[in-house]
Order: sequence, then structure tokens, then C-alpha cells
Amino acid sequence: NWKMGDFVQLEIARIRDLVGDRALVLGAVSGGVDSTVGATLMRQAIGDRFKAILIDNGCMRFNECEEVKETLGKHLGIDLTVVDAGELFLRLLAGVSDPEKKRKIIGSIFVDLFEKEAIRIEEEAKNTPNSGKVEWFLQGTLYPDVIESLSFRGPSATIKTHHNVGGLPERMMKGQGLRLIEPLRLLFKDEVRAIGRQLGIHESLVNRHPFPGPGIAIRILGDVTKERVEIARKADFIFITMIKEAGLYDQISQAYAGLDTSRSVGVFGDQRVWGYIVILRAVRTKDFMSAEVFDFDNSFLMNVSRAICNQVEGVSRVVYDLTSKPPGTIELE
Ligand code: XMP
Repeated sequence: NWKMGDFVQLEIARIRDLVGDRALVLGAVSGGVDSTVGATLMRQAIGDRFKAILIDNGCMRFNECEEVKETLGKHLGIDLTVVDAGELFLRLLAGVSDPEKKRKIIGSIFVDLFEKEAIRIEEEAKNTPNSGKVEWFLQGTLYPDVIESLSFRGPSATIKTHHNVGGLPERMMKGQGLRLIEPLRLLFKDEVRAIGRQLGIHESLVNRHPFPGPGIAIRILGDVTKERVEIARKADFIFITMIKEAGLYDQISQAYAGLDTSRSVGVFGDQRVWGYIVILRAVRTKDFMSAEVFDFDNSFLMNVSRAICNQVEGVSRVVYDLTSKPPGTIELE
């Protein structure tokens, strides 16, 4: 007879039991609700032996790393280490436009950096009351991730290398003997949100749209360059801000601005420009396994288009993606 009310206490007890009283746990946080709830549970279960890191892959949203660090520190008592690896990711992604290659490269850099962090953390913990080995890796895997990755891994080819399940930690687990700890693996998103509220996590974070591990890189079709990330990031910030101002944020499950591969001609004043094409996407979904397009008023979309073209240099056209899932996935890649 499983009750949501019991989940937090039961899970904290289970974590303490699993981890014991020496081992350290490393966890990557993203600023999303899943990793924040996971990190908060870990923190409550084992205190400072939980080490949270945020890897800045150069493809995060506008101001995101600073905001996440502040939120986790101020409200949840989690001392977050931000690993600034933007340049490295962008260097290794240069010239790569194949979606699976992008994901594999990003996943593999993440693993390298986690391994380095694990070593650094063990060194740092030496000669402190918390000295121990990093034995566990926290993942915010949810039940739908588990199901979706099972169906992705059928006899046919992988549809997408999902960052949360499987792909990412396999090497770490083999190489370093790290074990996975997944406190949310039996939960759906709405249950994670309910638990987030119980844990006192702020509503704006609890209701935050999901953001994928590879970040803006899988919302930019084709080459991921600093310039293109910057354009997508600015356009995304404008779109999301306008959605919030219109009071629509909580009616939408996920929204973002991405970038097309090609460019198109536009006219600004009396100048012709060969500019970028921004793709807006907004969907409603219960489980993220299927999704329907959010039905904005055309006037709202036209205002967003105007704002983006006016404020983001280099953009000459804005389009709205009208594809449900299936056949389109929520992300562009
Ligand atoms: P798709 O694009 O597959 O996305 O329809 C479904 C949900 O999963 C998220 N997503 C990811 N999350 N790492 C993540 O942490 C990933 O590699 C990844 N790929 C997709 C996506 O944002 C959506 O919520």
C-alpha cells in the first residue's frame, strides 16, 4: 500500500541503507526538477557526503548555471560545484552535425569530466571527517525514461541515445566500479513534482519545463558553434519570457526556441540579410512519450517572431513547429 506521503521517509532510509556511512555519492544536477529532487533527497539522507556538480557544457540556457547554483545553495543547502567546460564541448562538437554523433560526443565528455570530478572529490575529502571513496552516482531517472529506453533498445537500432539511462554511466560503472543510485526510478513526472513540493522546493523550480542533458546542442540542427548557441539561447529566452508574461507557462509542458540548419534571406531597412531561421516548439504532454502541439493565438506567435527578429542579431525568420509526437520528437534531434 504505497502512499506518496511515505515516499520521502522510505527513500531516505533506503538511500542510507544502500550507501552506508562512509561512501561518497556524486550527482550531476541540471537545474531541472528531477535532478533537484534527487539531490535534495541525497542531501537529506547523507548530508555532505553527497557532492553535486553541474557541468556547464556551453549549451545551457541563458544565465542558467548562475541561477542553478544560487537556487540550490540558498534554498536547499546544496553546495554545487560548477565545472566550466563550455569551450571543451564546443571544440569537440565543431563540424559535427549528425544527431547521434553529437549525443555520443557530449555523453562521453560528461563521463570524462565526472571521472575527473570523482577523483578530485576524493582528494578533497581526504583528512576530513567525510573522507571516503566515491562509490555511487546519482541519476534522476524516471519511470518513463526506463520504459522508453527499454523500447529504444529493442533489436532494431537505437532511436536516440538517452542521456539519463544506460549510455552515460556504463563506462563509469565499468571503469570505476561506480554504482547507480536512482531514487526516482519508479516515479512519473507529476509524482516527482509532488515530492518536490513536499521537500519545500520552490514552485517555479517544481514546475519548470524539462531540459535535456545535451542542452541546446540537440535543439540546433547541424553545426553547434558558439555563435549559433548564442542565437538559439537569446531567442529561447525571449520566447520563454513572453510565454511567462502571457501566463501560458504552466499550460505548456515544454517549450523552446531552436535553430534550423539552413539560412534564409530577409530584409532589414534597405539591407538584404542572409539570416538564421529560428524554430519555435511548444508541446503539451502527460508523459513525454507522446505530445501535442500547443495551440497559441497567431497574434502571440507573430509578436514573438517580431521580438526575436528585432532583438536577436542574425535572425531573419521565425517558424513554429506544428508536428505532434509522434512523428516528431519533442527535441529537434
Ligand atoms: P524526445 O525528444 O525524445 O524527448 O521526444 C522526450 C523528453 O526527453 C527529454 N530528452 C532528454 N533528456 N537527456 C535528457 O536528460 C537526453 O539526452 C534527452 N533527450 C530528450 C526531452 O527534453 C523531453 O522532455
